[in-house]
Amino acid sequence: MPQFIVATVQEIPPGGRKIVEVAGRSIGVFNLDGVFFALRNRCPHQGGPLCAGALGGLISSPGPGEYHYSRAGEIVRCPWHGWEFDVRTGRSWCDPKKMRLMNYAVSLEPGAKLAEGPYVAETFPVTVEGTYVVIETK
Ligand code: FES
Repeated sequence: MPQFIVATVQEIPPGGRKIVEVAGRSIGVFNLDGVFFALRNRCPHQGGPLCAGALGGLISSPGPGEYHYSRAGEIVRCPWHGWEFDVRTGRSWCDPKKMRLMNYAVSLEPGAKLAEGPYVAETFPVTVEGTYVVIETK
């Protein structure tokens, strides 16, 4: 697979990102606490510039009145319509087509898998060679 040097390690500090053009594709390279990830800068919803979106975390609730904030800076929110994707996997965290204001029976189930949506942003392998960040395209 072709490899492309896209940055030096110093150019993308922890919590930072750089959007690059590689082989005709816009790709966002993210540094999450020293580990690099790359996502296609094209939202699976309607093609928005996903990688330019705000970074946030996950909020989960074990019960009414209790919440837990985790994975700060690891979820990117598309600037066009707000769909959220996991920077580590490219997986969506909601399925807006299924969101409706109706009442449903409620039960408690373990596991974050229940919250994941069916959409996946394209991801690319990232390595650090010396002081350079390198991505592979398919
Ligand atoms: S284009 Fe990204 S949420 Fe609509």
